[in-house]
Amino acid sequence: MAAATNFSHSPLISKTRTYSLNHYPFPKNTILPFKLSKSYSLKPLSLKAVISQQNPATTTTQETTQFKHCFTKSQDGFLYCENLKVQEIMESVERRPFYLYSKPQITRNVEAYKDALEGLSSIIGYAIKANNNLKILEHLRGLGCGAVLVSGNELRLALRAGFDPTRCIFNGNGKLLDDLVLAAQEGVFVNVDSEFDLENIVAAARIAGKKVNVLLRINPDVDPQVHPYVATGNKNSKFGIRNEKLQWFLDAVKAHPNELKLVGAHCHLGSTITKVDIFRDAAALMVNYIDEIRSQGFEVDYLNIGGGLGIDYYHSGAILPTPRDLIDTVRELVLSRNLNLIIEPGRSLIANTCCLVNRVTGVKTNGTKNFVVIDGSMAELIRPSLYDAYQHIELVSPASPDAEVSTFDVVGPVCESADFLGKDRELSTPAKGAGLVVHDAGAYCMSMASTYNLKMRPPEYWVEEDGSVSKIRHGETFEDHIRFFEGL
Ligand code: LLP
Repeated sequence: MAAATNFSHSPLISKTRTYSLNHYPFPKNTILPFKLSKSYSLKPLSLKAVISQQNPATTTTQETTQFKHCFTKSQDGFLYCENLKVQEIMESVERRPFYLYSKPQITRNVEAYKDALEGLSSIIGYAIKANNNLKILEHLRGLGCGAVLVSGNELRLALRAGFDPTRCIFNGNGKLLDDLVLAAQEGVFVNVDSEFDLENIVAAARIAGKKVNVLLRINPDVDPQVHPYVATGNKNSKFGIRNEKLQWFLDAVKAHPNELKLVGAHCHLGSTITKVDIFRDAAALMVNYIDEIRSQGFEVDYLNIGGGLGIDYYHSGAILPTPRDLIDTVRELVLSRNLNLIIEPGRSLIANTCCLVNRVTGVKTNGTKNFVVIDGSMAELIRPSLYDAYQHIELVSPASPDAEVSTFDVVGPVCESADFLGKDRELSTPAKGAGLVVHDAGAYCMSMASTYNLKMRPPEYWVEEDGSVSKIRHGETFEDHIRFFEGL
């Protein structure tokens, strides 16, 4: 039976709500006040500026940045989010798995971009597809971000979150007419992706009775050196216009002076890029296109270099490009043409702000392989199954001294052999009920979650600046599922 617990007196949960606690047959702490009285020695990560292996001439000076990361394993063997023990949060919330974010980390990530962009006229267009939690969107908007959208519903959500539509960019290779009409009405920038897309944008402008500010999404044919599923800037991609067809598009824009105003050029190379030279190469090509476009009398002011900056999923302490490295590598090009720079980061703003917190259901072996079976699965976090992506996994509390260290596949309960969160991970054999996190779950995890096997989407929480924890999205329930069939 579920026990009802009122958290209104706990500083952990800032909103007064009644949660039901699932009964759990293993020993656990009672609900605790989570502001820690004692300060723990949390080791800050140190990231150095990137040094390109390919072209050292284009890199920035090597400086060490103290990077404060929200999730830290303390010397006491417990994992902390900011200053809160993840174990204690796990035991106090209504159900597991759940997503746990750090709001201050989101702020720090945005500030890193803002600092890097100093001296440039720019828009940080947060790519909503990475994470569409409304509370997170409101926070990002409050920090000054614009938004990058790929559907009418993402546009509606951005408007609901209060984003300024004139700082929003509508992307996509299959934008629908109705959604384009809404974008035109709201004054959103629209990227032209193909001949038929241009036709639809013209039609939308007529229906809305408004001229649309467009950018041409040019495929620069630059290899981003990433997994083929997240590569978009090479020739075989379904995205963008072929660069050889540029003149056709310029003529088409010229032919529609009442519907279209060409304001810039856009490219997006791919995702999880870890070499800033790739951005530099693409930006160099893009400013040449802009020179060409300007030479034909267009007043284009915007260069949009897309998103795609990777993060340290391996937690190996690798020296990865920072937002400053990214911006510095294109800064001179942008200034030389007096352009406004648009960037479209998703992952690098939100991925490292969150863990998926799971509980261990049990440990088993098939004779050759050991498995840690958790309550989370590919339904909540599909990146390992879909892209063979690595996301770092660790236990949230110290293992007992006699626990054997072994190599495990960390798997969920979903009825698919593809249901794994990590393969061949060395872990201390966890006890039943132990907490286990999958790191860097802020981007493309909840937003790609499904209800496969009727595993309903989990709740989300964040740690606030004052050290309290708030729920920022309700978990979906069985009743939510049944509602789709009501009245049929
Ligand atoms: N702009 C455009 C036009 C995009 O297509 C994307 C991502 C972004 C910006 C944001 O890219 P980011 O900074 O987040 O890398 N589901 C995959 C990632 C798909 C990315 C799709 N486009 C994953 O889980 O890795």
